[in-house]
Parts: sequence; C-alpha cells; structure tokens
Amino acid sequence: MQDKEADRLAFMGQLAAGLAHEIRTPLSTLQANLQMLQEDFEGTADERERRALSRVKLLLKETARLEEILNDFLRFAAGHKLDLRPTDLNRLLEEILEFLGPEAARRKVRVLTSLGELPRVAVDGNLLKQALLNLVMNALQAMPGGGELMVRTQEWRGYAQVDVTDTGEGMTPEVMARCFDVYYSTKKSGTGLGLPTARRIIHEHDGTLGLTSEPGKGSCFTIRLPLPKPAERGGETIPL
Ligand SMILES: Nc1ncnc2c1ncn2[C@@H]1O[C@H](COP(=O)(O)OP(=O)(O)OP(=O)(O)O)[C@@H](O)[C@H]1O
Ligand SMILES: [Mg+2]
Repeated sequence: MQDKEADRLAFMGQLAAGLAHEIRTPLSTLQANLQMLQEDFEGTADERERRALSRVKLLLKETARLEEILNDFLRFAAGHKLDLRPTDLNRLLEEILEFLGPEAARRKVRVLTSLGELPRVAVDGNLLKQALLNLVMNALQAMPGGGELMVRTQEWRGYAQVDVTDTGEGMTPEVMARCFDVYYSTKKSGTGLGLPTARRIIHEHDGTLGLTSEPGKGSCFTIRLPLPKPAERGGETIPL
C-alpha cells in the first residue's frame, strides 16, 4: 500500500472512531431515559400503557444493539497500545479452550490439541486472547453439525506458530477473498469484525495470519508470531 493511501485510511479511521465516541453519549442518555420509562410503565393494567411499555422495550433492545455495534467498531478501530509481556502461548490457548469447552460440547465439537514446546513470546495477552477467541468462535460456528477443532502449536523458523483447524463447511474462493474485509459476514447475526480484528491484532505484534480452506472440508488459520532470538531469551543465556 502506498504511504499516502495508508495515511488517508488512518485519518478516516480516526474520524470514524471519533464519530462513534460522539454517538455514545446521546445513546446512553436515550438508554437511561428509556429505562426510566420502562420502570414507570412496569406492572400497569392500562391497555394503552401496556402497548407503550412494549414499544419502550423494543427501543431499549435497539439501543442495546446500537451500543454493541459501536463497541465492536471501537474495539476494531482503536489503535491498540500493546502491553507486551513474556507469555506462555500454550497456557493462553489452554485457558481459551477451557473457557469455550462447554460451548464446544454443546455444539458436538471434539477439541483436540497438540501443543509443542515454545519459548515465551512477548505479547499482549488480552489482545491476543481476543484474536484467538475470534478464530476459535468462527471455527465452532463453521461446524453446525459438530466436528473437530484442532489447535496445534510449534516453533517454525524463528516464529511461534499456532494453527486453528476445523472440519467445518470451509470457504469458497469468493468468501476467502473477502473474509478479512471489515463488516463482511455470511452469517445472519455476524458483524463481520471478527477476522479483521484478529488480523489487525496479529499484525500489531509483527505477526502474520494465513488461511487455507476448502469448501465442504474445513479451514485452517495459521498465526505466526516472531520469537525472540535465542540470545534474548530469558533464562537461556549461559552464565560467564
Ligand atoms: N472457520 C471458518 N470456516 C468457514 N468460514 C469462515 C471461518 N471463519 C470465518 N469464516 C467466514 O468469514 C466471514 C467473516 O468472519 P468474521 O469473524 O470476520 O465475521 P463473522 O464471524 O461473520 O461475524 P462476527 O465475528 O463479527 O460475529 C464469516 O462470516 C464466514 O463466512
Ligand atoms: Mg467471527
């Protein structure tokens, strides 16, 4: 991408994030007042007031949806300031899989892991967790009739590599070409920010996010994060 184009995009991103912030304040006033109206009408026997109450409830639901859209957008648009700490990626993945275990079981998805030995990697744990969660959630959602989720880690040419593989519906070349686009979604209630957010977080860590997929077979997302050079790794230097 040309520098000028990158600058323009960054500027548009800042504008949009500013706008989203501005919308939040009147939105929360709306929400607070609707909440009070709801309390006023709650338990009424009057037919007209009951109708008003159901409209207020509908409006409250819509404001909640708007708030969610804004939060998703801000999470995506906000330039992240990374809080880098040496992190055990395998442990992080175990935490995520433990958290999503019940969800996987409910969806009849068998979770398999093959966690290789990895040195600690300097990452922002919370952000990386979010990126991984997005990938794992997508994998689960791609297997409506159940299947297998495989999470593999290994050291690969100076990178820590994480593969998230599913045996789900896979992607056509058209979906593959667009799946990292902001707001692109093939799901009924998807916002289409999961993958662009994940990729952005990984790029902020100087890493890469790759994808292979085949319709009817499944998809594999591959994250690569640069490892510190052996000399920089704590606890592995030979004392003089
Ligand atoms: N593991 C996968 N298998 C098949 N298709 C996938 C997979 N992951 C992503 N996709 C496709 O890429 C699209 C974009 O994914 P993304 O996570 O950005 O948005 P979403 O999942 O639709 O919505 P959101 O994550 O915001 O709830 C999905 O709608 C789906 O078509
Ligand atoms: Mg998603």
